[in-house]
Amino acid sequence: MTPGPGSRGPEAEAHLPYRPGELALSPEEMRRAGQRAVDLVVERLRGVADGRPHAVATSAELAALADRPLPEEPGDLTGLLEWAAREVLPTGVRFDHPRCFAFVPTTGNFPAVLADALASAFLSVPGAWLVGAGPTRIELTTLAWLVELLGLPPTHGGLFVSGGSVANLTALTAARDHRLGGDLARARLYCSSQAHPSIARAAHIIGLRRDQVVALTPGPGGGLDPRAVRARATADLAAALRPFAVVATVGTTGTGAVDPLPELAVVCREFRLWLHADGAHGAAAALTARGRSACRGLETADSLTIDPHKWLFQPYEAGCLLVRDPALLKATFRMGRHRLDSGYLSPARATGEQINLDDYGPQQSRGLRAFKLWLSLSTFGAAAFRRAVDHGLDLAEYAGARIEAERDLELVTPPSLGILTFRYRGGRSPADGAHDQERISAAVCRTGRAMVLTTEVNGARVLRLCTINPASTRADIDETLGLVLNAGRGR
Ligand SMILES: Cc1ncc(COP(=O)(O)O)c(C=O)c1O
Repeated sequence: MTPGPGSRGPEAEAHLPYRPGELALSPEEMRRAGQRAVDLVVERLRGVADGRPHAVATSAELAALADRPLPEEPGDLTGLLEWAAREVLPTGVRFDHPRCFAFVPTTGNFPAVLADALASAFLSVPGAWLVGAGPTRIELTTLAWLVELLGLPPTHGGLFVSGGSVANLTALTAARDHRLGGDLARARLYCSSQAHPSIARAAHIIGLRRDQVVALTPGPGGGLDPRAVRARATADLAAALRPFAVVATVGTTGTGAVDPLPELAVVCREFRLWLHADGAHGAAAALTARGRSACRGLETADSLTIDPHKWLFQPYEAGCLLVRDPALLKATFRMGRHRLDSGYLSPARATGEQINLDDYGPQQSRGLRAFKLWLSLSTFGAAAFRRAVDHGLDLAEYAGARIEAERDLELVTPPSLGILTFRYRGGRSPADGAHDQERISAAVCRTGRAMVLTTEVNGARVLRLCTINPASTRADIDETLGLVLNAGRGR
């Protein structure tokens, strides 16, 4: 269609020269919008507890709100920020709400918000040393702090990634390269049936078929049984297959169960298997003495996933992979191993003490995710983080004891790394059980006071709490269990 008189379509626009400053704002405009943005952040962080833990809208409602024509002309930044903060961004789960006990909640924190903004303003790229020497140093220091916090040997290293899924993928890619010697077709990887689905997805991406991921039924305590792994690896070897890796979960998402790392490490040494520990949720417990005894043996793993955007209170995205021998990551991911044109990268080659972190994982341009953890640890101090993790463990114990004291509630799996499951059993027949738990969860969520979802344990639907938000209190647990009881009793 030909544009009518006076109208300027995108093609006509493309021929106009760029006007200097068209993609910039004046210092006054930036300050005005920036100050409003800070106010909106403070309102969000301080006000979340007053709202619902889950703000629901239909997709039609959201489309009516947010679907706008591509804005060809400039708009008002402050107004747009206001609009997004009021109308669209709050819809969904509010993980930092003190009665949001669903999934694995994070809380975020103010220094982290500023860290993301600054990293963005400075276009910080801890990729090649030449490109981002300062950001790289921040990331390396943060990694060293994390290693220390978890009680790992200082020789551990790694990198920040988007989250647990990519940390698991990065680890399994290295495991494939260093334990399989290219023999992918006969490869076998072992994990518990309770491992996170990102393990299966990572296996798929690195080229394994479904039958090559052997999901073993956990033992009676909920953890992967090392004897079962040994038996299966022995049988697979006898069948000329190639066992190459075990994934142990440190805090399963469903019940917080821990696979026994020290015992699995013995089996892995025996069969030369790579041991990956997925501690996306649970490894942070090692910040505390009691948590450390619950997840013994983190140092025995070849690689360890930990998600600071879970129990280290960071906003998304902040995942991390730590490995015993960082040189193995470099051997897998370094740019130089590939034949395609990397001529433009040779000026950025690392020399001497320099480290190019983009050689250690799948991304070249990478954001400075470590900065938010660095800034919040530096602002609040590690001791506050330790106490906050302990608080989450305490709260789960408190919830467990409250559930055990209630005649109409039954603890299904005890508190483990801040997660517990239970069911309402008030007088109905067991056949109604699954439906009841889902109905109760939906009724609790509908009140707008708390968010409690269900999961499956040994084939049965159960209610689940993850209590790791440091802003949650015993009163929040009491109120939430009260809502569960009311819903169960049909009130
Ligand atoms: C044990 C475990 N591993 C991996 C993941 C995936 O992490 P992310 O969502 O950060 O990719 C999760 C997420 O809940 C998890 O609990």
